Amino acid sequence: MKSVIKVKNLTKEYKTLKAIDDLSFEVFEEEILGLLGPNGSGKSTTINCILSLLNYSGGDIEIFNQKMQPDAYEIKRKIGVVFQDVAVFEELNVYDNIDYFCGLYIKDKEERKKCIAEAIKLVGLEDFTKFYPKQLSGGLLRRLNIACGIAHKPKIIFLDEPTVAVDPQSRNNILDGIKELRKKGATIIYTTHYMEEVEILCDRVIILDKGKIIASGTNDELKELAHIEEKVTVEGIDLNEKNLEKIEYLKNVEDITYLDNTLIVTYQKGKNNLIKLIDFLKQENLAYSKIYSERPTLNDVFLELTGKELRD
Ligand SMILES: Nc1ncnc2c1ncn2[C@@H]1O[C@H](COP(=O)(O)OP(=O)(O)O)[C@@H](O)[C@H]1O
Ligand SMILES: [Mg+2]
Repeated sequence: MKSVIKVKNLTKEYKTLKAIDDLSFEVFEEEILGLLGPNGSGKSTTINCILSLLNYSGGDIEIFNQKMQPDAYEIKRKIGVVFQDVAVFEELNVYDNIDYFCGLYIKDKEERKKCIAEAIKLVGLEDFTKFYPKQLSGGLLRRLNIACGIAHKPKIIFLDEPTVAVDPQSRNNILDGIKELRKKGATIIYTTHYMEEVEILCDRVIILDKGKIIASGTNDELKELAHIEEKVTVEGIDLNEKNLEKIEYLKNVEDITYLDNTLIVTYQKGKNNLIKLIDFLKQENLAYSKIYSERPTLNDVFLELTGKELRD
């Protein structure tokens, strides 16, 4: 795998606050790397340091094997950025906004036209090209923001929480668009505090907390870090003390909770846990309305590593 970004021992302080604390990682060609962390964990600061938009007190950043610095214009031409806060011109309609940003990189009119058309298609704004930002819903505005950042076909794309407060349709559209960009050869750095997005989108994930990497790897590798293997939920079940005690002593059971007629059984390991529990409930003549099994989520991993939830 070819490394396209190298971050070495990055440290950044805001006055007395250490926002980034000795961060080192690489980004590989054509991967979608997720930076996952709660609000304030340092995701935006990391991106802004990589882009040389912020200065930092320690560390080195290389992009395409060259030192990244504020005047590294050749590198910057190959980068697209979609900032957390929407930044478009109120005075320009959808088409002209994308044309403006794309025009900073692509001077040839015909080539630019093609790029703009592709960007509009990618984010699904075909029916809105004449609309002004004020006339767009939050989700459509975010899609415009993305189109402006990627129309010039950058090799590396940074997207900073592009789906915050968007409707589900726009969210799906955005996630599909990002997969499409990767398919076309872009390398993507995606920040979010939504673990579900990371699970469906990212090839590799770095979990940040308080400016430090607390874990990294593929989704599966990270889930190995959660010491629970499986969580089985039984809804609409009526249990007494004796039933609960028996369940607690079933094979591989790690822990049980029972509240409002819902039983949650966590397993540390083992196969066929769900089937065995179903068999047991049948054998004991215990009726229920619903039973299902889940693997640990990245939130469980985060909880285990930090003692708190990803979402506040
Ligand atoms: N301009 C700034 N001045 C002072 N502190 C800041 C500034 N920007 C961010 N911070 C602080 O740095 C930490 C990391 O912030 P940020 O990178 O924005 O996190 P995230 O993007 O993960 O939400 C937070 O504690 C935040 O309050
Ligand atoms: Mg941020």
